[in-house]
Amino acid sequence: MDSFEFNKIAAAILIVALLFIGIKEIANSIYNVDKLEKSAYKVEGLEDTDDNKVQKPKKVVENLKPITPLLASANIESGEKIFKKCAACHSIQKGGDNRIGPALWNVVDRKVGSLDGFKYSVALKNYNKNWTYEELNGFLHKPLKYIKGTKMAFAGLRKEMDRANIIAYLNSMGDSPKSLK
Ligand code: HEC
Repeated sequence: MDSFEFNKIAAAILIVALLFIGIKEIANSIYNVDKLEKSAYKVEGLEDTDDNKVQKPKKVVENLKPITPLLASANIESGEKIFKKCAACHSIQKGGDNRIGPALWNVVDRKVGSLDGFKYSVALKNYNKNWTYEELNGFLHKPLKYIKGTKMAFAGLRKEMDRANIIAYLNSMGDSPKSLK
């Protein structure tokens, strides 16, 4: 094989290699879809993980510790301050009107979704329980998760002492506040 022949073969190999790399690059740039940050189909109760592995189902609403034992040490004034977060939507004084949310005077032990003249979601209307301390605790922790379908667009109070304080305040804003001790 003379050197001219050898050069031709070498050049042919080089060209094929370049073409191969080139085509791969182009194909990649056309077809390379960025990895989704989250799985496109979210399964309720499953944690989204980095590698999108399916994990053991997690309880949607965590088991909260009972709030009742904390109420004895709750602070009504702190609860009143926290109520500022609610006041955009709720009245709390006696005779207060329904606003974006229902009036909250006497709400403790009232039947859920029972005020005349307020248009509740079906979820609250059919809930069929009373606003006990523990129901309030669960609802105020994560309203949208605790009662699916509620239209109370509020993220919730994460700290349990905040919930204890506001429940104590709600209890005080009624015709016959119950003893918390
Ligand atoms: C963005 C407006 C908004 C905020 C803020 C808000 N709520 Fe509500 N709340 C609503 C609406 C709307 C409803 C009715 C929900 C339904 O019908 O599903 C409601 C319902 C309720 C109920 C049920 C009352 C009943 O008659 O059954 C309680 C209790 C309650 N809210 C307490 C609170 C407290 C306490 C806070 C503050 C920590 C708060 N909400 C913050 C809008 C709000």
